[in-house]
Amino acid sequence: MLAPPLRTARKPTRPRPALARNEFTTPAERAREARWWATYAWIEERFYWVLPPDLQPLARQRYVQRIADFLHDAVHVIDYGCGNGWIARALARRVRARVTGLDFSPAQIALARATEVPAGARIDFQSLAGPQDLPVADAYLFHGVLHHLPAAEIHDLMNQVQRLAPRGARLVFVEPACFTGQPVGDAQRALLDRIQVQVEEPAAALRRLGRVPSATVQRLRGISSERWWGEQPCGPSPLERPFTGTELGTVVAHYFEPPELAVVQYLPASLAVASELAMLAEDAPELARSIAPALLGQVDELEGLLLASTPLPDSGWYLQMLTATVP
Ligand SMILES: C[S@@+](CC[C@H](N)C(=O)[O-])C[C@H]1O[C@@H](n2cnc3c(N)ncnc32)[C@H](O)[C@@H]1O
Repeated sequence: MLAPPLRTARKPTRPRPALARNEFTTPAERAREARWWATYAWIEERFYWVLPPDLQPLARQRYVQRIADFLHDAVHVIDYGCGNGWIARALARRVRARVTGLDFSPAQIALARATEVPAGARIDFQSLAGPQDLPVADAYLFHGVLHHLPAAEIHDLMNQVQRLAPRGARLVFVEPACFTGQPVGDAQRALLDRIQVQVEEPAAALRRLGRVPSATVQRLRGISSERWWGEQPCGPSPLERPFTGTELGTVVAHYFEPPELAVVQYLPASLAVASELAMLAEDAPELARSIAPALLGQVDELEGLLLASTPLPDSGWYLQMLTATVP
């Protein structure tokens, strides 16, 4: 298949929307961020954001198939800021397209390349310096990466996508957001309390066996609280800032057609339960395996009820998913 033709730039004439984050990052901040990834990426991968391969599909079931459906007729998908490449691999199993994962961290790319590729999948991983290295493709996915970037880099990236993406190209953005200042209703409070019970269940199941977390797990928990070293609501990595509830939609709409927006995950629910299960699996792998499907199914149901309630309460990070088609 030939590469799609380059389109002429369509520079927006309106002033670009402001973002509540730094305009640029200093070299010292970038170095601190790089140190963080060198020190803690393995914890994110095993216990938090990425999760082990057996838990990840259960914890992410709410939206990964939706992304694949939206990209079903794409020819070449770019996964920008791909990390260890788990979502590139998950998509490559579900779509016909070739999938290219790109990341600024050579260590993450080495990890992605070292992981087995699903049979029949067409997938490759490359490191890149920044938005200027973006290749032409007919689908671009940004999953959990834009909230690590300063405002100027986000705008550079959107300009590049706008310049390169052919008409009809598919864009997907999945990023954390906080809905600051929105009160928690009584029904939502009850749901949050029930979710918290599910989050505590893996540790409770270990206690019911008369066991306490091993020294390894206790050490992991200590490290993970150290990771939250910045001013809230940033973190765990130093440059990480969730968007406000409307920011990402406003930015995407500035460059492309107004996107479809859905809030697809409440991170302190299924992701938190999956993290607890990953910790439990260190101490009692059989127990973790046996309770995971039912527990993640139950929390997914509660999470669905919470996400269907409006307005969403200000009580943690949500994942917003925006999809847009280049006009
Ligand atoms: C939270 S991880 C997300 C990885 C993957 N997309 C996922 O969802 O698992 C953020 C990723 O963004 C990458 N990253 C951070 N700053 C970046 C930048 N300025 N340009 C490209 N990638 C960046 C990091 O190396 C990391 O792999």
